[in-house]
Amino acid sequence: MSSDSINDNLGGVEIPTGEPILGIKNFSKWFPINNSWNRQTGWLKALDNVSLTVNKGEIVGVVGESGCGKSTLGKTIMGIHKLTEGSVNFEGSEIGHLNPSESRQLRRRLQYTYQDPGASLDPRWKIGKSLHEPLEIHTKLTRAEREKRVKAILTAVNLPEAHLDLYPHEISGGQQRRIGLARILTLHPSLIILDEPTSGLDVSVQATILNLFLDLQKQFNLTYIFISHDLSVVRMICDRVAVMYLGKIVEINETEKLFSDPKHPYTQSLLSAIPVIGGKKVTENFWLEGEPPDPSNLPSGCSFRTRCPKKTDQCLQSPPPLTNTDGEHSVACYNT
Ligand SMILES: Nc1ncnc2c1ncn2[C@@H]1O[C@H](COP(=O)(O)OP(=O)(O)O)[C@@H](O)[C@H]1O
Ligand SMILES: [Mg+2]
Repeated sequence: MSSDSINDNLGGVEIPTGEPILGIKNFSKWFPINNSWNRQTGWLKALDNVSLTVNKGEIVGVVGESGCGKSTLGKTIMGIHKLTEGSVNFEGSEIGHLNPSESRQLRRRLQYTYQDPGASLDPRWKIGKSLHEPLEIHTKLTRAEREKRVKAILTAVNLPEAHLDLYPHEISGGQQRRIGLARILTLHPSLIILDEPTSGLDVSVQATILNLFLDLQKQFNLTYIFISHDLSVVRMICDRVAVMYLGKIVEINETEKLFSDPKHPYTQSLLSAIPVIGGKKVTENFWLEGEPPDPSNLPSGCSFRTRCPKKTDQCLQSPPPLTNTDGEHSVACYNT
């Protein structure tokens, strides 16, 4: 099946592979912190001044410890959270500050899969209804055309038609992920933000889901942002990887270069914590110590300095900017 056979004029801009499809600039999302009297006492800087370009056809990984802002990044790009500052350009249009109805049309080709696959499926609806609903909302397809498209997508995610008559609780976690993906694919997106798409799955199921992502990418010309805390999965599937620490990107590089030659002390410690590959540790530098600081009360200067063995006086003064060193590599550290 070709992607054209299910593309009933959903629109969108055809961008050649390798050209930017998404660009975020000086992107910040701050959540208000309220005390028990509901008075605002400060801000939690879940994302602080993040810039990132994603090219068409790429798989860009976003990694970092729990709470570093990965899901907030995905949800804010998607418009689920309102952007505090900065800009988002998607397929040539600025979408960061549009109102919900203006952005709905533009964002249809930009989709986000929730960390919890069950969250996108209504437990009271049969799978068939869940797959028809986005098409009823976003397209003018007839019932027969919708049925044709839903069946084609179901085949693409390797599920039998009989699943249309089942409820979410009647299928496995892996199958729920496939349905979640199918629901999005019916809208013919160009960029999908996958939030922890393999967490909670058995290793064998993880492998089949990863292969499915790669198959679907080819079949539907997709670009992915792949959010995960699982570094071995990210290494397998991503072209480039961005490492986040407390709301900032601290290093980004092509996957193999990042894994073989990490420069930021945080990336080095993250990688030293993953299982030994081929009997040899990826880096022997040091292990990450302690907990990250409270995101609502960040240290001055570099936020990693409280855990960093390389810190110097300069790190206390101001946060190191993310600086391009060579090629695709950028790092935010004064002491690499
Ligand atoms: N809706 C929200 N309201 C307030 N704080 C939030 C909200 N969502 C996330 N946060 C906070 O933002 C930070 C980043 O969270 P999140 O993006 O979920 O991290 P990750 O996905 O990397 O685990 C955390 O400190 C989290 O508590
Ligand atoms: Mg998350």
